[in-house]
Formats: sequence, C-alpha cells, structure tokens
Amino acid sequence: MIEVPAQEFAVSDEDQASILAEMGRLLAAGRFSGGENVRRLEEEFAAYVGAAHAVAVSSGTTGLEVSFQALGVKGREVIVPANTNFATFVAAARAGADVVLADVDQTTLAPSVADLEKVSTRRTAAVALVHMGGLITPAVHEITSWAAQQGIALVEDTAHAHGSWRDGRHAGTFGVAGVFSFFATKVMTTGEGGMVVTDDAELAQETRVLRNLGKTEAWVSRHIRASGNGRMTEFSAVVGRHQLRHLDDWVAARRRIAARYHSLLPGPSGVSVLLPDHPYSGYKVIAWLPPGVAREHLKRDLAAAGIHLPGEVYAEPLHHQPVLAKEYGHLSLPGAERACAQQICLPVYPTLDSGRVEVVADAVLSLVGAA
Ligand SMILES: Cc1ncc(COP(=O)(O)O)c(C=O)c1O
Repeated sequence: MIEVPAQEFAVSDEDQASILAEMGRLLAAGRFSGGENVRRLEEEFAAYVGAAHAVAVSSGTTGLEVSFQALGVKGREVIVPANTNFATFVAAARAGADVVLADVDQTTLAPSVADLEKVSTRRTAAVALVHMGGLITPAVHEITSWAAQQGIALVEDTAHAHGSWRDGRHAGTFGVAGVFSFFATKVMTTGEGGMVVTDDAELAQETRVLRNLGKTEAWVSRHIRASGNGRMTEFSAVVGRHQLRHLDDWVAARRRIAARYHSLLPGPSGVSVLLPDHPYSGYKVIAWLPPGVAREHLKRDLAAAGIHLPGEVYAEPLHHQPVLAKEYGHLSLPGAERACAQQICLPVYPTLDSGRVEVVADAVLSLVGAA
C-alpha cells in the first residue's frame, strides 16, 4: 500500500549543512536575539513581497495582535470572517476590540463588500481579510477601496499566502498591513514565527515597539506602551532565510499539484477542486464534496487506504466553536457554514510526486462514487 501522509517536510542535505554552519556561527558569536539574521530576514521578506517594511514576530497570532493594537482598535469593532482560524479572532479580541463575524462567499472563501457592509458600523476600526488556503479573492480591489472610503483599516491575514499574487501584487500589500505565519505547517516555516509587512513607516515603527514590550530601544528598559514580548529569535531567522530562498520553487510545485488534482477530479464525479484564477501559494488544495458525502467517513476510509488528509480551512466556523457559542452561537452565516462543512483538503507538499497524486485522486473518486 502506498502511504500518503498529510504533510511531509524535507530539508535537503545541502540546506541542513548550511543551516548547521550558520547555527554554529551564531552559537560562537553568542547573540541569539535582535541580531543580523532577524534584520536580514526582514529585509529579504520585505523585498520578496514588495513592501517597504517587514517586522519579524514570534508568531502570526502575535503579528495580528500587534497590528490591531497599533491601529488603535481598542474599544472599537474588528470584522473577522466566520470561516477563519481562531487566531484571527483571538488576536483582535486581545487587542481590545469587539469582534464581529462576517459571512463569506463560498466560491472565494472571503467576504464580499456586501457581506462587510451588512456588519460594519460607525465603530468598525478594521477588517481582517483572510486569504484562505492562499486564495486572494477577486473582490480584493473592491474591498480595499471600500475600506479606504469608510476609513476602515484593512489588515490582511496572510498566514496561508506566502507566494500568492494577484494582478502583480503579493498578498499582504493590498491593505494597510499583511500578517504572515511561519508556523510549522505553513508554506515556509521557522517552526514558530511570523512577519508583519506594511508600506506605512509609522505603523512599522509602532509594531516594532509593540513586539518589544513597548520599548523603543532593544536593550534599554524604557517602556512607552503596555505590550508583551513578540520577538523572533536569531535561530528562527536563520531557518527562515533558508526557507525564503526556496519559496518560489516550492509554491510552483504546489501549484502544479493543485492543477493535477483539478484535472484528475473533474466535475462529473461531484467533487470539484478549487483552482484559483491567479498564482497562489498552494497552501491548501480545497475540494468541494457533493451533497450527501459524510466527510468524516470519507476521511476514515481514505486513512484506511493509507491516504491521510490535512486539516480543513476550517472544519467549523467560529460561531460553532465551543468557546464562542455563548456570544456568537445564535448567528446564521450560511456561506461560511457551507464552506466549512463541504470541503476536504487534499495532500499537497513539494515532495508529493505525481504517482501519489494519482493514487489520492483515484481513491477519492472511488470512495465518493461508492458513497
Ligand atoms: C488564517 C490564520 N491566521 C493566523 C494564524 C496564526 O498563526 P500562528 O500559528 O503563527 O500564530 C494561522 C495559523 O496558524 C492561520 O491559519
């Protein structure tokens, strides 16, 4: 039986040798935080996405929290799509905002301007636009102009979108800030970590202060803001710089796999693979299931055949999460509910060869056909 794991991470022998050599230099120099590697990763990442500034942080969640804090959302509202990771919600809440959930369009997994208008009020300070699975909604320009007209800050949650471009612009450069995650499952990773990108020099500076216990100088204990420690280590930055060098090749491989699944799982099967109309990160290959197919049974049967699916984005909308049920459980957000209930995500990683892609597609086709 051919085993297809949900994820596979491969660091080449050459990269391992180079990372270990740099780690050795770091250990010898003894500067493990706030050094050259973090500074260089910031410069290189900013150049990659085409933003004026990049601020490295300890996680994507922290990056979102300090961005919302810097934008002054405290005591106001932040709109978050109901189908996102809990991190988007909790970051806005921890920055002191009242979080309002928006519905999404099932075909783009993002809210439309109409969805945002439905829930925006005079108290709305920011909208979090999440590029789900790496997809940038075709409505991004319309949403950007609407937010600017309303005086609402558009923060892009780009945790899934390293290497996603639309109309020549990288994810994270449409709104006032973009926040990437380098968590272990992401397209590029530092284990834990993240990056805030922005063209706004003041916002970048405020983010730097907020990630650093509210200090303006790294090694001077003078605090001008009440905030926590969101710094990235030098060790993480060494790994991140190596990962960034491979990002284009990795996303190209992911896109090829997505296109292959798309051709192997055609419409008549009832399964349809969502293939974006722009170059995307390929973080997730989302497939919609036909009505009547029970996802958990299908996943169990696939696992029995050696095929392990990665997590959905996401299996449950936020208003159905136990921790939010009391406050948000009464909401009906049908686009987000359908988007969560009807998807599976297919294995995708640069080392997945075409033979294993075919094995996955065949198994999905036969099990869905038999359901
Ligand atoms: C959409 C989204 N936003 C934010 C985060 C938070 O990033 P981190 O895990 O680096 O804190 C994640 C995932 O991990 C995510 O998937």
